[in-house]
Amino acid sequence: MRQSIAGTEARRLLGGGPVVLVTTAWRGNSNVMPAAYVTPVSFEPPLIGLAVHPTRHTYDMIRHSEEFALNLPSRELLHHCQYLGSVTGREVDKLDLTKLPTFRARHVDAPLLEGCVGYIECGVHDAMTMGDHTLFVGKVLAAQVEQGAFEGTWRLDDPDLKPLHYLGLNYYAQFGERLEARVPKPEEDASEEAGSERREAETEAERREREEEERDRRRREGESGT
Ligand SMILES: Cc1cc2nc3c(=O)[nH]c(=O)nc-3n(C[C@H](O)[C@H](O)[C@H](O)COP(=O)(O)O)c2cc1C
Repeated sequence: MRQSIAGTEARRLLGGGPVVLVTTAWRGNSNVMPAAYVTPVSFEPPLIGLAVHPTRHTYDMIRHSEEFALNLPSRELLHHCQYLGSVTGREVDKLDLTKLPTFRARHVDAPLLEGCVGYIECGVHDAMTMGDHTLFVGKVLAAQVEQGAFEGTWRLDDPDLKPLHYLGLNYYAQFGERLEARVPKPEEDASEEAGSERREAETEAERREREEEERDRRRREGESGT
């Protein structure tokens, strides 16, 4: 049994990508707003799409400065995230008001926010209007992660070092654990039973070698864009 939902609600089914705090700076002023409409769009060059409604102060800041930074908050900034999305930088200086500690970015003037697990600095590569939002396509100029949070992917072993995901309304979530999928090689017997017997017979060195090979394979697949 299934239930229909409105087309305008469909976006919520895709909720769960990390929420970002977009920081911007222009002529000595800076601003911050949360955004959930953010996605990678190209592997090489690395490009990231960020959809911003033209009524946002952030929209003008990006248009003028042609750059922005994405700060990926940890749960420490949960309530800040909601608040920063409820007021506009046109009326209040949100960074001054919240006293959020910041530090200098490497390539852009926008400040970076403490209390985040990842940072991506972008220069505007393209901008196009999509329905009622403008999709800014940012070229990645620099990226940083908090120590211990990331190892090829998010590690997800420390709740304070996980990104936050926006579900919609005033609900957020954190991912649970990192699950590793194993795809059998063509010559391998795909049955799980055979696999577990084989793994039991493995020495520690063989196990490490197999894990290393799997990491290489995943890296290669990542490079080919999968
Ligand atoms: C969690 C969350 C995610 C949001 N995602 C977006 C988004 O992707 N794009 C957008 O234009 N506005 C988004 N908003 C709304 C803006 O953050 C909000 O209008 C904000 O007050 C704009 O600030 P500004 O005018 O200072 O730029 C989001 C709000 C919240 C709370």
